[in-house]
Formats: sequence, C-alpha cells, structure tokens
Amino acid sequence: MPATLIDGKAVAASLRAKLAMRVAAHVAAGKRAPGLAVMLVGEDPASQVYVASKAKQTTEIGMVSIEHKLPVETSQADLLARIAKLNADPSVDGILVQLPLPPHIDADAIIEAIDPAKDVDGFHPVNVGRLATGGKAFVPCTPRGSMRLIRTVRADLSGLHAVVVGRSNIVGKPMAQLLLAANCTVTIAHSRTTDLPGICRQADILVAAVGRPLMLNAAHVKPGAIVIDVGINRVPAGEKTKLVGDVDFEAVRGIAGAITPVPGGVGPMTIACLLENTLDSYELKLG
Ligand code: GUN
Repeated sequence: MPATLIDGKAVAASLRAKLAMRVAAHVAAGKRAPGLAVMLVGEDPASQVYVASKAKQTTEIGMVSIEHKLPVETSQADLLARIAKLNADPSVDGILVQLPLPPHIDADAIIEAIDPAKDVDGFHPVNVGRLATGGKAFVPCTPRGSMRLIRTVRADLSGLHAVVVGRSNIVGKPMAQLLLAANCTVTIAHSRTTDLPGICRQADILVAAVGRPLMLNAAHVKPGAIVIDVGINRVPAGEKTKLVGDVDFEAVRGIAGAITPVPGGVGPMTIACLLENTLDSYELKLG
C-alpha cells in the first residue's frame, strides 16, 4: 500500500487560518496587532525568498511585519544596536535574524543579543536550555512544524523509536528533544554514523535533516515508518532546476506508512510555526 501523503501545505494553511482568527479577536478587543521583526543582511537569494514569504504571510494573518534589509557590509555593532532597539520596542513580539549571516558577523553573539522573550526562532541559549530541561521555551519553527505533521498521522508517539538524521542546532538537535519529550526512544545519526541504513531501518519515525539530495532511500526505511523529510535541495533538472528532499520520495513511498513530500511537506510549516511562536509571545506578554 502506498504511504499516506502528509500534506504540509494544507496543515500550514489551516494553522494560519486559526492564527488569523486569534489575531482578529485581539484586534477586535481594541488591542494592538502582534509585531514580527525580521532582519536580513546581504543578498543571499534563498534568504531573500524566505524573508519575502515571511513578510507576506505575517501581514496576511493580520500581524505587523517589520523588515530590516541591510547591506552585506553591515557591521556587527550596527546589527547589535538594531537588536537592542527592537528588544526595547513594546510593539515588537518576535525578532528573527535570517541565517546564514555574512562571515564577518558572529552569529552566536547576534542570537545571544536577542531578548529570549522575543526569540521566536528558539535559537537563544536560554530557550535551547529550557527546551532541553522541559521548561516553557520557544521551539525552533521547523521542528515544531515537523512534530505537528507527525501528529496528523499518529497522536501518541510513546515508546516509538525515532531516528533523526542530522545534528544541526536549527533542526536535528531540537527535533530530537521534542521527540524525547513525546516519549520516543531517540537516536541522532549524522555523517560519522556507521551503518546508517541499519540504524534508519529501526525507525518508526525517520526524520531526514541533512541537506543532501535524495540521500535516504529504500534501504533506510522500515515498512510502515513515518518519514519526515526536512531537506529542501535545489538540483539541476534538464535546463532548469527543481526542489528535492533528503529522501528519495519515489523509492520510499511504497515502503513508508506516511511521508512528507518536497515541496509541500515540512517547508510550509516553518513559517506557519514562526507566526504561531510570535502570537504565543504576544499573548504571553498580554498575560
Ligand atoms: N535560515 C534557514 N532557516 C532559518 C530559520 O528557521 N530561522 C532563521 N533565522 N534563519 C534561517
């Protein structure tokens, strides 16, 4: 039986509709709209697309989008000064600095300068620590969205073996924390893992977050597994290019129980969860 297709585009659209209703209720009650500030340094084409998409979806659900598009030569001091202003601005609920940053800027110093209460990316060490210790934290958007997609096909994950391939701070590590918090037995695999196919074949939930096109195939998937493909890789396709995941979708769809496509799987969930984090931040401030 072919795998159930997990439709991230539809799940994200339904989440955004719910968020828009929450925002509208606050505004109807005479409160200000939530505000999300996004900073982009330089002209990385993929980052420009993401930031434009974030701004569009922010305003579509009735929130205020504040954009800082800065030249590539922007200094670290300038960026820190802008963050300090946004930290102090009561109309700003979320601050996101688009990564990657140019090499002359220390990304860790920038992330640590963001007020943890406005860190809607969940990258600040305070939020990373709270997630690890089971406290109230902003959860990074891609893992939060991936968990939501898993829950569309299985509510109780208790006792399942989850294998996360990839150990980035943005996806792999927080994803593992969320699966652990959901009572999964969690394995984190990476580029030095021996017998990757064998480890992956133990997974009831397999999360691919390595950024290598079509790296996981039929040899990596246990029959019936839930496969979450976080990869978004642009590859040549004849004269043009196309997007593919880290999973060879065609090779795996006959084996998995459920699978996210690329595009249209995890991708749309990331921005929807960013908006959700921003609204959560706003509501926390209101009390
Ligand atoms: N670059 C790629 N993904 C992300 C993300 O989720 N947040 C930020 N700030 N930068 C990114």
